[in-house]
Amino acid sequence: MVDPDLLLQELQEKIHFLSSLEELNQLKSSVLGRKGLLTRYLRSLADLPLEERRNLGARLNSLKEELEVLFSKKERELQEARIRESLEKEKIDVSLPGIRRPWGRRHPLLQVWEEIEEVFLSLGFDIYEGPEVEWEYYNFDALNIPSDHPARDMWDTFYITPKMLLRTHTSPDQIRCMEERKPPIKVIVPGLCYRHEAVDATHMDVFVQIEGLVVDRDTTFADLKGTLELFVSLIFGPGRKTKFVPSYFPFTEPSAELQIFWENERKGDKEEGKWLEVLGCGQVHPQVLRNVGLDPRVYSGFAFGLGVERFAMLKYNIPEIRLFMENDLRFLEQF
Ligand code: FA5
Repeated sequence: MVDPDLLLQELQEKIHFLSSLEELNQLKSSVLGRKGLLTRYLRSLADLPLEERRNLGARLNSLKEELEVLFSKKERELQEARIRESLEKEKIDVSLPGIRRPWGRRHPLLQVWEEIEEVFLSLGFDIYEGPEVEWEYYNFDALNIPSDHPARDMWDTFYITPKMLLRTHTSPDQIRCMEERKPPIKVIVPGLCYRHEAVDATHMDVFVQIEGLVVDRDTTFADLKGTLELFVSLIFGPGRKTKFVPSYFPFTEPSAELQIFWENERKGDKEEGKWLEVLGCGQVHPQVLRNVGLDPRVYSGFAFGLGVERFAMLKYNIPEIRLFMENDLRFLEQF
């Protein structure tokens, strides 16, 4: 039979060196549990002669009590150590600097887009909006664009059905607006345009145009020039070099494009640059007025369509249009 003193000594040592509550529970159940060592000894007492049973039984019972005390003392110790440890680990140092959330900001294109809108609003224009998915009629036919015009080609236009497409410019909304409203009309039409064309440093396949349309009894080409020159000076400040160059659009006559000088390179002492086309414009073609039921002998108008990306490029001196669409934070965070 077992010697309770030796067993106590051995278990005291084991309990002393326990380092976790898991180990303690394991040892405790292997000694005091239902199938534990001491429980088995106590059960086997039944086989012993009475005198021996009484003797050993008393010693084993007091051993059991002593062990229970030892285990619960150790258990408290280990619980306290665990609490101390987690307090240490989870300590919050309120004096540490916080984690800054990055600040969001408006995309540079949107900033320029809104700035352009504000200038036109201050000049008395209204905002008119039209659909991006457009009928071929509004995008081409009503604008006097003949069926053999290259812009109608599959390679320039994203068609949805043979008669429906993604608008290639904001000019179809000239027609929509003139169908809805009576002159005097003075609107801008901002929005996305889509062209199936090769992307390069100044061309995207999705870009933002702002259309302008003024229709009244006596509008002249001089009004068009004056409005656009004032607009450019309000956006860039006075003295920005611009020029009107003759151009052709089937829906305006005469037509022009506006170019702005882009001083983007410095070679030695010499400032170098190039002219960048920023918009197409002209006086509304008499046939377009007729298409919406207006008499060109009574009414005249002027229209323009500008590229917002081009203005943003000039404003921030960005030589590459694709940067606006790449979502590179290193670029976007500069604005
Ligand atoms: C037009 O789209 C005409 N609807 C403009 C117009 C309106 C003329 C009213 C007369 C009266 P154009 O294709 O040239 O014209 O485009 C006008 C402007 O949009 C360009 O000057 C340029 O600033 C911008 N643009 C055109 N294509 C792209 C492109 N692929 N990527 C970025 N900007 C573009």
